[in-house]
Amino acid sequence: MKEQLAKIRAEALASFQEAKAAADLDTLRVRYLGKKGELTAVLKQMGKLSAEERPVMGQLANDVRAALENALEDCSRRLEAAALELRLKAETLDVTIPGKAVSLGHQHPMYIALDEIKDIFIGMGFEVLDGPEVELAVYNFDKLNAEEGHPSRDWSDTFYFDNESRVMLRSQTSPMQVRAMETRSLPIRVIAPGRVYRKDEVDATHSPMFHQVEGLVIDKGVTMADLKGTLNTVVEQLYGKGTKTRFRPHHFPFTEPSCEMDMQCHKCGGAGCSTCKGEGWIELLGAGMVHPRVLEMAGIDSEVYSGWAFGLGLERTALKRFKIADLRLIFENDVRFLEQF
Ligand code: DAH
Repeated sequence: MKEQLAKIRAEALASFQEAKAAADLDTLRVRYLGKKGELTAVLKQMGKLSAEERPVMGQLANDVRAALENALEDCSRRLEAAALELRLKAETLDVTIPGKAVSLGHQHPMYIALDEIKDIFIGMGFEVLDGPEVELAVYNFDKLNAEEGHPSRDWSDTFYFDNESRVMLRSQTSPMQVRAMETRSLPIRVIAPGRVYRKDEVDATHSPMFHQVEGLVIDKGVTMADLKGTLNTVVEQLYGKGTKTRFRPHHFPFTEPSCEMDMQCHKCGGAGCSTCKGEGWIELLGAGMVHPRVLEMAGIDSEVYSGWAFGLGLERTALKRFKIADLRLIFENDVRFLEQF
């Protein structure tokens, strides 16, 4: 029995040393120390021994068990350390390798133009508002004095969501005038930039989605002179001091009187060229004095208050500002094009 125990000890210790993984050790533990293991099998023969031999063998068997348990413990620690070592090696980062170059985008020329416009108006005490692109026809038309039957409400021009023509993609930023009047206290000085949608085919000057900047001023004693003075200042800041403008009569349902503002062609100085199509002038925006009916519908006393408003196309402003010929370039987002501005 003594030899048996010595053999088990030697064999077990050797096999523990050879184990390559924690799972192997578990198998060995069962094989040598388990209930049906080799050591237990030897202990079961203790009954056959004499009374003198029994305690001696018992002691020896316990020593072997303790030695095996210790060895198992050591080996398991050794394997864990080796596994950790391996993982650390695999996950090593070489911080000296040059990084991958990140290619940065570029601010879009239209947003450069918008930032300039915002800066100019903020400098004059205006607030910048944001509003919904999915709009109620009541705001896009009715409260702007464009009643049922007005040509701009036609299905061929407007993206409606419902058969009753009540919900739509806004076709202009002008509904923000009404929203401003309903939510702000007087006096009001706001601009509202944003996307608008119309059923237009894409070409060099049209897109079914484009951007406008709306402006609205309401206070006591506001006149057309304020409109002209403010917009002239804006044009001079955008296009350079001394830029000449002119105001032509026009019609919009929500302003009375209404006008369009042109600026003298920066290329030919008014003589007429390809940029201004021989006109000498370039159309910039629509504007006018807020129609008293629009004020009244928003609950503002038109006997006490008056106001002026304007709406400009942002893409067209950017095209002029950066002398870009084709509107489609604005939407293509080709970085090689955008980087030039
Ligand atoms: N909403 C007009 C359009 O889309 C532009 C416009 C004209 C806005 C005159 C105004 C305004 O605020 O007073 O054509």
